Amino acid sequence: MPADHGLAAVLCGIGTWLPPRVVTNDDLAQRLETTDEWIRTRTGIRERRVIDPGMSTSTLAVEAGARALKSSGSTDVDLVIVATTTPDHPCPSTAPEVAHRLGLTGVPAFDLNAVCAGFVYALASAAGHIAAGSATRVLVIGADTFTTVLNPEDRTTVAIFGDGAGAVVLRAGTADEPGALGPFDLGSDGSHSDLLIVPAGGSQQRGSGLPLDPADVHFQMDGQPVFRNAVTRMSESAGKVLQRAGWRIEDVDRFACHQANARILSAVARNLEVDEDRLVVNVDRVGNTVAASIPLVLADAAAAGDIVPGHRVLVTSFGAGLGWGSTVLIWPELELG
Ligand code: COA
Repeated sequence: MPADHGLAAVLCGIGTWLPPRVVTNDDLAQRLETTDEWIRTRTGIRERRVIDPGMSTSTLAVEAGARALKSSGSTDVDLVIVATTTPDHPCPSTAPEVAHRLGLTGVPAFDLNAVCAGFVYALASAAGHIAAGSATRVLVIGADTFTTVLNPEDRTTVAIFGDGAGAVVLRAGTADEPGALGPFDLGSDGSHSDLLIVPAGGSQQRGSGLPLDPADVHFQMDGQPVFRNAVTRMSESAGKVLQRAGWRIEDVDRFACHQANARILSAVARNLEVDEDRLVVNVDRVGNTVAASIPLVLADAAAAGDIVPGHRVLVTSFGAGLGWGSTVLIWPELELG
């Protein structure tokens, strides 16, 4: 979706929300066979946030969405997209309820499931609506409570994932403005769909007629091939989007990669031959927050002054599916929500 076809989608608001409960590595080590040292050295993660009883994905999405609207200076939007893999219910989608609770009843609203690549897919979808003239201001929310699909006894996945939400507002503008998104690179490879999967709960398992295996209701991950694919796919996608944008690697001030594992980030930096100080990182504090990962790391970096207006930022993400996606923007002046 080249940014020079029709109107561009311009970032004009950003907001995030994390559930207050912090779970440290030492907390996990009290009930699982793991250590703070193992988790820190293998993943770079020190702590993550986990929802309390009574919260769900919509709780997080509404909080982040409200902050993004406030940051944009207006509650006027004509499309709401919620990127999530952990909707409040299998049916209906979560976005209409989120829109309603934000005072946006009547506005078109839909969920988008592309797992950890979901936020970049949602940005591309919003940009397409803006380019086509079917929307002029879009609220894009990435929200996941992935801890709700983990096996609480699985020390590997419990150590990696956390809950959270981040949101942006995109408005119609021109491709040469700061904040204009694009071009995009998106891709998928369903031949590896079994590497990261919740086997049960969908039509395949329900239609099988077979008794439910309780283990299949939980997320299952084959860590090492996922690690290799994450590094390769994000590196390749970053290269493609740079080529499409006409940017050189040295033009990029900050790389905002999906926050899954600090060692994955280091390997991507090595592949791209860039210094790690050009990466923005918050995986140590939030773990892998799935669709919330990209807006959370962008907002955290902006709040810390690590991303400043005028910075050329490359965003790249990867997740189950497999799916991946990248885009670029020049960071605009923003009120942080
Ligand atoms: N604490 C202690 N030991 C653990 C552990 C934990 N939290 N999790 C796994 N281990 C153990 C394994 O059981 C294994 O033990 P074994 O040798 O006795 O079988 C050992 O550590 C080594 O496991 P391995 O899988 O080789 O470790 P690794 O270095 O590949 O790290 C991951 C495991 C999961 C951290 C790593 O593969 C990874 O990050 N993969 C990508 C995951 C990801 O990003 N997913 C989301 C993509 S969007």
